[in-house]
Order: sequence, then structure tokens, then C-alpha cells
Amino acid sequence: MTTFSAVSCTHYPFFVIPGFIPLKSHIENSFIVAAKVDKIEPWNAITSNKPTHSFRYYQDQEPYFIYAGESSKPANHLDYEARMQELSDQLYLKFHKTPAFTWHTHDVMTNDSLPFIGSINAQNPNLLIATGFNKWGMTNGVLAGMILSDIVKGKENRYQDMMRPDRPINLEKIKNFFLDGYQNAVSYTKTKLQKNQPFYQDNVKITYENGTRIGIYRDDNGKLHKVCNVCPHMKCNLIFNYLDHTWDCPCHGSRFDIDGNVIEGPAVYNIKLNAKKDK
Ligand code: FES
Repeated sequence: MTTFSAVSCTHYPFFVIPGFIPLKSHIENSFIVAAKVDKIEPWNAITSNKPTHSFRYYQDQEPYFIYAGESSKPANHLDYEARMQELSDQLYLKFHKTPAFTWHTHDVMTNDSLPFIGSINAQNPNLLIATGFNKWGMTNGVLAGMILSDIVKGKENRYQDMMRPDRPINLEKIKNFFLDGYQNAVSYTKTKLQKNQPFYQDNVKITYENGTRIGIYRDDNGKLHKVCNVCPHMKCNLIFNYLDHTWDCPCHGSRFDIDGNVIEGPAVYNIKLNAKKDK
């Protein structure tokens, strides 16, 4: 009999059951700046203390120095623009450089710092996932490819047991399980209690229309973009991200453009007004 496997590698699983990944993980943002330099140096480094900062050089058409840091949970820092400014200020103060490029990441962090790769649980052995790469996406992405292909082919893989998503709990996991749950609850509550964040400028407003909580962004031409302000995944409220001009969910990292199109999961539905189930 032929057995089929379904592989879900969507950064963050778009389903809650089975697996309950939102209970076993949290989102962390990291911020990165790149400055032009005269030449690249033959070293890179990462700090061993918290908060972590990393440094490296990269030769593109021109040489760049790349500086990353200011990681934070969205529950603690909703204003991404302020975090980026903080990192840019450090770049100037420590290295006398200004950023030529900036970007930021949303990473899925697990409660024991190992990724979830493999069958989601014993009851669903043919539903395979790969998520929770804990900022080591290149390494863990390759590892996920090796483990998942071995599982599909019915081959043994020495890392399979260590990475399986339903691996046994240990003390560290129990502690982080409650911490993640607490952080997610803080994100949820913060967005529910405070409609308009203190860092919103007068081009962003949260209000209610016909009982629906909506977010309004006024673009540089004065055009209003109205969307539903409730995340379709698990109903957190969305925060406006001034770096990318997107609506971001601080609970599990879903993101939407200013017109309500979903651009990153786990949400799979748009947030357009009157079309909340529009995919
Ligand atoms: Fe889960 Fe928004 S509530 S991503």
C-alpha cells in the first residue's frame, strides 16, 4: 500500500491542532544594519552575553560591515522603528558608520532551543513539519531537508528523535512553556487593552466601525487604507509596523500589507474589511 506524507514547511505552521505549536514557541524579532566600508576584514564575531550582537563583513559589489542585534519579543517591544534606530545609533557610536541598508527578521523560537522537525505527533505520523529554527535558519533548514526526506523514504536518521516535535519535556522546557504562554498572553492583552500605541503618528489610527475594530493607515498621498485590526489566526490585535508599513501580529508573527493581504503566516486569511475569510 502506498503511504503519502504531507510536509508543512511554512515558517510557522498555519494550523494550531494537531501539535499546538503556539504553546511551545514564541516569536523574536532581530534587527540588522549594513554599512559600506573600505574593505572586508577576515573575521566575524558574536557576543556571548545578552543582548546578543553579531558582526561580520560581506563582499557584494561593494564591501559591507553587517551589525545585528536588539532582539526582542514583540510582547516587550512593539515599536520596531525605535529598535532599529537604537541599533543604527550603536553603529554610529561604536563604529562611526551609518546604515546603507536595514532589515529585520521574525524568528520562531522553541522552548528548548532545538527546532521542531518531523512527524507532528504519534497520532499523525505522516504529517511532517519543520519550524522553530531559533535564528539558525540556514543550518536547521538543511537539517530539516535531510530529516524530512529520510522520514518520507523510510530511512533512519540519527537526529530524528532529538528534533521530533513531540519530544519529551524536561525541566527547561516546562519553565519556558510557562514563560512562552505568559509572553503570548501579555502580547494578547496588551493589544486588546491599548487601541492606539503611544508611538503611532497621526497617520495611523485604531477605531471601531459597525462593531468591528479597524486599523486605518493614511499614506503619503492622503489615501486611507482601512483593514480589520483582528488577526484571523488566534484573534490578537495587530500593530502597525512603521519600518515596512505592514500590520504585524505580536502573538505569532502573522503580517499583512496596508490593504489587508496576508503576506506571512500562520494566518491564512486576509484582513480586508467585509471579506475576513478572503484568502
Ligand atoms: Fe497568532 Fe496573530 S494570533 S499570528
